[in-house]
Amino acid sequence: MAQQANHALPPGFQLDEYCIERQLSLGGFSIVYLASDTTGVSVAIKEYLPNSLALRGEGEIKPLITPDHAPAFRYGMKCFFEEGRALARLSHPNVVRVLNFFRANDTVYMVMAYEHGNTLQEYIQKNRAGITENFIRNVFTKLLNGLREVHSHKLLHLDLKPSNIYMRNGHTPVLIDFGAARQTLERDTPMLKPMYTPGFASPEHYSQRELLGPWSDVYSVGASMYACLSGAAPQAADERLTNDLLVPSMVRWQGQFSEQLLETIDWCLCLNHLYRPQSVFALQKALTEKVVVPQRAGESNGAGWLGRRFGKLVGQLKNRIGKK
Ligand SMILES: Nc1ncnc2c1ncn2[C@@H]1O[C@H](COP(=O)(O)OP(=O)(O)OP(=O)(O)O)[C@@H](O)[C@H]1O
Ligand SMILES: [Mg+2]
Repeated sequence: MAQQANHALPPGFQLDEYCIERQLSLGGFSIVYLASDTTGVSVAIKEYLPNSLALRGEGEIKPLITPDHAPAFRYGMKCFFEEGRALARLSHPNVVRVLNFFRANDTVYMVMAYEHGNTLQEYIQKNRAGITENFIRNVFTKLLNGLREVHSHKLLHLDLKPSNIYMRNGHTPVLIDFGAARQTLERDTPMLKPMYTPGFASPEHYSQRELLGPWSDVYSVGASMYACLSGAAPQAADERLTNDLLVPSMVRWQGQFSEQLLETIDWCLCLNHLYRPQSVFALQKALTEKVVVPQRAGESNGAGWLGRRFGKLVGQLKNRIGKK
């Protein structure tokens, strides 16, 4: 099936107990709507509708799924459902709240608390000057509280990036858009497009999927912090594996941020998963470490925070990230 944009359900449409107000976004895998429940409370509803498998024409309600795509569509739906069920068990201020899950129109819907705000991606594009050391530390420390909760439920996010971090009321980060279901899908059903995002996905996302673990989300967190500083995604991990052109944060922003923060970002972005923080907790510890105020711009204090801590290992690590 040629990939075409799907048509959203129209405003005013009664979907189960919810009334659709408008479409919020249209992605390759789903459509997100703003809707209201029977008491008038706003909710966000995500509709499973991968455009490689299902097509809904203008004015239609049910998508058209050809018989040859039906097994993959059904399998994807099951994964979307499982994912939603797992997410519904989580209740954390930094993870989007899943309120309900239901089937209708031959597909499946996930109802979430509606969050006011915008994505971190939008934020960093509009507030370049607001990206300070404190901003990065605060936002990511809070976000990692949410990610810790996710990992403690044996889930991985696997699609962490600034556009999947929602800034509630402009300041509290909330994790949205969990990609794990799609990752499973991708492996088993090649009809579904790979959902990882170049620049933010770890090297193991590409080829060594058996190595995926908390450290893979940690890589994406590091890439997101890097993107906050640079305004753009870092070089994609698969390219880095053959020709690493990523300028380490330590080099690129030397003197502008604390050495400890820059080293922490580079630590997360190690290509070898074993060299990264192995848990969200380890990364959080680094982000909340009391830091000596940075030296004057351009100065360096030699071995640095990580170096003092891990000596030889960091020497090897720097050789790796510094190799050109
Ligand atoms: N709970 C929510 N509250 C408010 N807005 C939301 C919520 N969930 C999603 N959105 C909006 O919808 C957009 C897309 O959501 P999301 O990132 O979950 O899906 P996507 O990237 O379009 O989907 P996919 O990758 O599954 O095709 C978000 O950037 C945000 O603007
Ligand atoms: Mg998204």
